[in-house]
Amino acid sequence: LPEPGTVEFKDVTFGYPGAEAPVLSNISFTAKPGQTTAIIGSTGAGKTTLLNLIPRLYDATEGEILIGGVPLKELGREAISQNISAVPQRPYLFSGTIESNLRFGAQDAEEEELWEALRIAQADGFVSEREGQLESKISQGGTNVSGGQRQRLCIARALAAKPKTYLFDDSFSALDVSTDAKLRAALVEPTKDAAVIIVAQRVSTITDADQILVLDHGEIVARGTHEELLESSETYQEIVTS
Ligand code: GTP
Ligand code: MG
Repeated sequence: LPEPGTVEFKDVTFGYPGAEAPVLSNISFTAKPGQTTAIIGSTGAGKTTLLNLIPRLYDATEGEILIGGVPLKELGREAISQNISAVPQRPYLFSGTIESNLRFGAQDAEEEELWEALRIAQADGFVSEREGQLESKISQGGTNVSGGQRQRLCIARALAAKPKTYLFDDSFSALDVSTDAKLRAALVEPTKDAAVIIVAQRVSTITDADQILVLDHGEIVARGTHEELLESSETYQEIVTS
């Protein structure tokens, strides 16, 4: 069997219920633990849809997705939520405390582990400045934190769960350049044994990825490292220069 956390897409096609044309066609790739797989492509290319198939927000229409060699449909909801952490494109917080938000997926974590997740996510500073700190209240929809803070709290929540697979959907876009750089440097160590899949709009986020998949109209039109794609893919060159 492939290592736990490995994500395999085998000839996956997906169309939204009721829609005419598929949004994803014949997608095949493997995301291995210890590696970063980046997905890049223009708006509407199908990046979020592809990520959402992994925790089974939708099921593939054709083809198969396997985690650690086990077909998703055999894994069960619990195994999926225990092994996969997703930071969605529009990160959400639950009404409750910061702590209860962080403990979603990490019920048994020590408080120190929550702070460690906050430090990595560059969120410890603003949390420690809030009255009540971990006990500070998040209002419904998380409207009493900024978009960038919400994004970092969702990243901290994903880290606290210590999954084998991380899915980041454009998760660094609300951060300023310096916070973005610090956060991604801090992520290297805690995610080093996990399979990391990052959807990006900015190429700067993914130049050091182990493999980059270029998605265009629901198809993988090129794949390789940044250097390889600069040589081989016109679509990638367009993204880089846009
Ligand atoms: P950006 O996040 O804007 O960069 O785009 P993306 O690459 O993440 O594309 P996404 O996967 O969100 O959308 C791919 C295609 O599926 C687009 O044509 C969307 O209009 C369509 N789509 C997305 N969500 C839904 C949905 O819930 N229902 C239907 N019917 N179509 C959807
Ligand atoms: Mg998207």
